[in-house]
Amino acid sequence: MLNFQNKMKIESIRPVHSLSGSVEVPGDKSISHRYAMLAALAEGASELRNFAAARDCHSTLACMKSLGASVEVQGTTARVTGHGLHGLKASWRTLDAENSGTTIRLLSGILSGQAFSTKITGDASLRKRPMKRVITPLREMGAEIHAWDENFPPLEIRGGKLRGIHYETPMASAQVKSAVLLAGLYADGETSVTEPAATRDHTELALQEFGASVRKSGRTTFVRPNPALHPVSLDVPGDLSSAVFLLAAASLFPESNVYIANVGLNPTRSAILDFFNQMGAAITVVNLQSKGGEVVGDLAVKGAQLKGGEVSGSLVPLLIDELPMLAALGPYTQQGIEVRDAGELRVKESDRIAALAENLKRMGASVEERPDGLRVEGRSAGALRGADIDPRDDHRIAMAFAVAGLGATGETRILNADCAAVSYPTFFSEVRRLAEG
Ligand code: S3P
Repeated sequence: MLNFQNKMKIESIRPVHSLSGSVEVPGDKSISHRYAMLAALAEGASELRNFAAARDCHSTLACMKSLGASVEVQGTTARVTGHGLHGLKASWRTLDAENSGTTIRLLSGILSGQAFSTKITGDASLRKRPMKRVITPLREMGAEIHAWDENFPPLEIRGGKLRGIHYETPMASAQVKSAVLLAGLYADGETSVTEPAATRDHTELALQEFGASVRKSGRTTFVRPNPALHPVSLDVPGDLSSAVFLLAAASLFPESNVYIANVGLNPTRSAILDFFNQMGAAITVVNLQSKGGEVVGDLAVKGAQLKGGEVSGSLVPLLIDELPMLAALGPYTQQGIEVRDAGELRVKESDRIAALAENLKRMGASVEERPDGLRVEGRSAGALRGADIDPRDDHRIAMAFAVAGLGATGETRILNADCAAVSYPTFFSEVRRLAEG
């Protein structure tokens, strides 16, 4: 039986027998950020339906509002009215990206093209996350940027005339690629970015939807400056990175039967489905369609025996946000889960490698922590026991361990469970509903 309590932000999770029912996950976080920013640079009113409920995306909306866009939110529809590429105004206050790396990094690209100065900061977690990765190329384009210790928020960005550059990103990061491409809208010539491995391409697709000129050749993306961006009326697909927690939870129990409608299945995000199915998961994709340049479909998932597997190399950036859930599933697989080449996980909302290793060990799993990943032994599910989980204020750690707790013995308590709202505010209530289904 499942028994959730929500006292002092603690979610109490007990073992369940299966998950069943239909569900829709909130709008995609990555896409919502991009639509909100570009709508604020477009000429006129955009309607963004199924806009992410994620707190992170509301941080972006608040920033765009402070920069002069008009923003109205009704339910899950965001109406954003922009005044053109050069229509933003200086904010009288410091912008607050709160917990959102995507907000501060992508917005840094846009702010670099503005003829005014902006200060932007975030919460305690964001103030520890590296920004040099965007500062370096944006300075090369001509922006003046000050950062704490040359690397951390608060950032002070004085924009102006930018030059188009060709930039090779040292790490596979969609956020860095996107910051440079967005700054490229304000440059005096073409800007291009070459990445060492493919990353999510939502910025490229969104730029096209709003009327910018973008093209791709291999791992290089080119953007032309000074487009007239037009407003859009678009539906944001459901967030696959949120759906993954439900896919994992349902997979754990033979009698599960869950249907997740309207999920974004962009090929730069959907490697997780192939990985799950290679592990033996029973996930079927139905109703595939294209919406606003993005691929969307429904997912049907049943319980299955999971084999386990290894994530390394160019697969890492394609699964980057799913690695916490995969690692926490490790003890429920036959051969375990191994993650390599994923040092980036140490500079996410928390040091995810350390947070995973610590909390898995608390639940009795056998884990080897490494500088660039971890190995979680399989077949130890029988030994997995409920524990107090410290998610380190990281939404994906909180949700990954809630799922692990569903198959453990005894009670798992997710401390400060509210942090899940950063991407999926209704996660705990949806799991409770599906477990009762
Ligand atoms: C994101 C890109 C990824 C991902 C983050 C969202 C995006 O970060 O981890 O949650 O929307 O561009 P990096 O590109 O820095 O790896």
